[in-house]
Amino acid sequence: MNKILLKNINAFRSEDQKLENVDVLIEEDVIAAVESKLETEADDVRIIEAEGLTALPGLIDMHVHFREPGQEHKETIATGTKASARGGFTAAAAMPNTDPVIDKKALVESVYERAENKAKTHLYQVGAVTEESQGEELAEMGRMKEAGIVAVSDDGRPVMNSQVMRLAMEYAQTFDLPVISHAEDENLSAGGMVHEGYYSTLTGLKGIPGNAETIMVARDICLAEQTGCPLHIAHVSTADSVDLISRAKKRGVRVTCEATPHHFTLDHSLLPSYNTDLKVNPPLRSKEDVEAIKQGLADGIIDVIASDHAPHASEEKDVEFDYAPFGISGAETALGLVYTGLIDKGVIDRAKAVKCLSEKPAEILGVTKAEIKTGSPADLTLVAEDKSWQVDPKNFCSKGRNTPFKGRELKGKPVLTLVEGEIAWEEEI
Ligand code: DOR
Repeated sequence: MNKILLKNINAFRSEDQKLENVDVLIEEDVIAAVESKLETEADDVRIIEAEGLTALPGLIDMHVHFREPGQEHKETIATGTKASARGGFTAAAAMPNTDPVIDKKALVESVYERAENKAKTHLYQVGAVTEESQGEELAEMGRMKEAGIVAVSDDGRPVMNSQVMRLAMEYAQTFDLPVISHAEDENLSAGGMVHEGYYSTLTGLKGIPGNAETIMVARDICLAEQTGCPLHIAHVSTADSVDLISRAKKRGVRVTCEATPHHFTLDHSLLPSYNTDLKVNPPLRSKEDVEAIKQGLADGIIDVIASDHAPHASEEKDVEFDYAPFGISGAETALGLVYTGLIDKGVIDRAKAVKCLSEKPAEILGVTKAEIKTGSPADLTLVAEDKSWQVDPKNFCSKGRNTPFKGRELKGKPVLTLVEGEIAWEEEI
C-alpha cells in the first residue's frame, strides 16, 4: 500500500483558512489522518521531513492548452500535465482548441482515454461551444457532458454571433454547464497583436483596443443576465472589464472571471524589445489595467487565477513579431508569480490565493474541492514559500519554452505535488 507521512508540515486548514503545524498521513489515495503528532514504526511508510514547508489543498489550473490531439509538437497530455504538476497543480482543465477541436462526445472520450495512462494530474476537458469552434452551429453539449466535460468554451476565439451565444447559454444551462467566454470583438481586434496605445504606436505593431474585450464582456453579461446561465470570463485584462463584472455581480448576475499571472505582472511597456514571448491574447495592457487586475483580485471581483498555459514550439515563436502565435507557457511559473507578485506585495493573502487557485475553480467547474482533512482525496501541493528561484525555461517540463519570465527571480516554489496520493512532481527539499 502506498503510504506517505508528512512530518511537521504547515497545513492550510479550510475551516479557519489558517496554517497549522501537523503531521499528515496519506494511505493510498486519501488523507488517512491529520494530527499534531503521528508516529509510525511501519517500514512501508515513506516519511518526509517537511519542516518549513506549507501544504496547500491541491491547486486547479482551470485554463490550459495541452495541444493533444493534433499539435503534439507543442505539448502533449503527458508533458502538459507534468508541467502542471511541476507548477504545483493537481488538476488542470484543458481547452478544446486542439486539432480536431473537442466538439463531440467521442473526442472527449478519446482525450480521457489518453489521459488515463499519461496524465500526471487530474485532467478535466472543456468542450467546444460551437462545432469546430466556428461560432455557427452549437456543439453536442449534452452528449459531451455525458462523457465528462466540465464547461464549454470556444477559447482562442470568441463566439461573435450574439444570437448563437444566447442560444449556447440557454442550451448549456440545461446541462448545468458553465460557459467560458473568450471575450474579444474580432472586428475591433482584427490584425492586432499588442495593446492599442502608446507602445503600439511606438513599435508600429498593430493594436488591439481594450474595448475589443470590454464590449464582449458587456454583451456576455447581458446574455447571462437574460438566460440565467453561469458565465465565466476567461483571462480578463482591462480595468473596464473588471468594473463591468463588479457591477454585474452586485446585480446578482451569475458571472465569475479569471486573471492570468502575466496580466497581473507585465504591461505593454516591455514591447519595444519585440520579444515574441510577450505576444499573447488578450495582449499585455497598460499599467493602469495591471493595477485594476490586482485590485480586482484584492477585492474578490476576480474569482480565479489561471495560467492560460499556451505552449508553442520555439521555431514558431522564433520569427518576426507579426508571424508569431499568441501564447505564454505559464503552468510552471504561475504559483511563483502569485507568491512574488501578489502575496509578498500584500495584494492578497495566502487564504485568498487558495480561494483563487483551488476553491473557486472547483466550485465553478463542479469538481471535487481539495481539503487537507481526514478522509479527503490526497491532492496536495507542498510549497517552499520562502525559497527563491530563477525561471529557466530549459528546466521546464512543458515542451513550450515560450516565457517572458526567463531569468526572473521568484519566491515561492512548489516542491512536491501529490495527486491521489501519488507523487506527481518532487524535487529536493
Ligand atoms: O495567447 C493565447 N493563446 N490566447 C488564447 O486565447 C489562445 C491561446 C492558444 O491556444 O495558444
